[in-house]
Amino acid sequence: MNRRNFIAKTGASALLATVSNPLSATPTKLDDWASVRADFKLDTSKIQMSQFLLASHPSSVRSAIEKYRKGLDDNPVEYYESNFVPNTRAVLKAAETYLGAQPGEIALTDSTTMGLSLLYTGLKLKAGEEILSTTHCHYSTEKSLEFAAERTGATVRRINLYEEANQTTVADILSRLKEGIQAKTRIVAVTFVHSNAGVKLPIKEMSTVIKEVNQNRAASNRIYFCVDGVHGFGVEDINVEDLGCDFLVAGTHKWLFGPRGTGIIWAKEDAWDMVQPTIPPFSVAYYMWMNVMPEAPLNFYSKITPGGFHSFEHRWALKDAFEFHQNLGKAKIQNRTHQLSTMLKEGMQSIKHIKLHTPISPTLSSGINSFEIEGMKPKEVVDKLHKMNIIGSTTPYRTVYARLTPCIINTEEEVMQCIKALEQIM
Ligand SMILES: Cc1ncc(COP(=O)(O)O)c(C=O)c1O
Repeated sequence: MNRRNFIAKTGASALLATVSNPLSATPTKLDDWASVRADFKLDTSKIQMSQFLLASHPSSVRSAIEKYRKGLDDNPVEYYESNFVPNTRAVLKAAETYLGAQPGEIALTDSTTMGLSLLYTGLKLKAGEEILSTTHCHYSTEKSLEFAAERTGATVRRINLYEEANQTTVADILSRLKEGIQAKTRIVAVTFVHSNAGVKLPIKEMSTVIKEVNQNRAASNRIYFCVDGVHGFGVEDINVEDLGCDFLVAGTHKWLFGPRGTGIIWAKEDAWDMVQPTIPPFSVAYYMWMNVMPEAPLNFYSKITPGGFHSFEHRWALKDAFEFHQNLGKAKIQNRTHQLSTMLKEGMQSIKHIKLHTPISPTLSSGINSFEIEGMKPKEVVDKLHKMNIIGSTTPYRTVYARLTPCIINTEEEVMQCIKALEQIM
């Protein structure tokens, strides 16, 4: 096959071009929270307070998955050949629109964990350099950083950004970050919303602190700011440019209600060079290897998105999850999630036997609400709640709390029922 035929047949040229197809604007008719709730197939005989852990899908995502699955089941190879490029472009375009990102800045992954690992173990660090992280990060960040340190000889140092989660302030977090940065610090690795205590970090302000430090450093010695954004993603009305970090990693099968086994890594263009690929990408890089295309610099998508065949029916339907959020409105989703969480926390606060760990203010919290009940193990609390038809979860950390996380599918009545159940749980 000559180069022109190859490109025509595989659609490689489309991947070379800037993603420019407009989104197919098919607004979902979801005009109130009741219709949003009804759009999910959730078992509402139970109070679903853990959608953030592994999400159920809205109808648009379900039908997209079914459509792609049918195409792949009927005629896998032809369907793949004709759909890979346009569908991938559509997912990337939807992700860029949602995040306010530039073309080429987003790599597609299968989970937050995969994204964190590809990012951290791919960092071009040298022996003696330091990764500054925190004691509040998830297992997936801690282990990825540990692997990165083993490979490169860099060290990992973890600091507390707060002692008592519900007493913390933005000023205190910023001052601890400032104090924590040392001359050898090259990476700051944090988590946007802590899935243990539910604290939301002031990422934008932290980015400013890091930018100030970078102003006095050579470009070759600058600090890169990396964020596990999974529990802010799909809740907080963010735009990556405003957030100011260099890398943002998130699974899209949690708050975004996207297909299971999907996620993204966003990387600002001037940070692309800091990461080397771990898994060979099936992108234009493949055609360069085959000598049907000349070698050229790769964007972050083309360099870092893991190759191999994927569960394409899920990956392609991610577009619909982004569009579902866009159609509802990011600000509306954020405000509703905060409203239900604040209502729940205020209720918890008035119950004597509850110790609420998550700050009340949406400035320092998002949708995760963590608490303990006097004299009861968190697992016992969550088991009792399950028996009362309330689906909460325990935090998978060394220190364990109970969690309830309302989202846009929940109602005020459900939040009130949770508060009542917590009053009676003893
Ligand atoms: C903060 C945080 N990061 C990463 C993960 C792992 O997410 P995933 O299942 O998408 O790999 C979790 C799990 O909920 C988490 O709480």
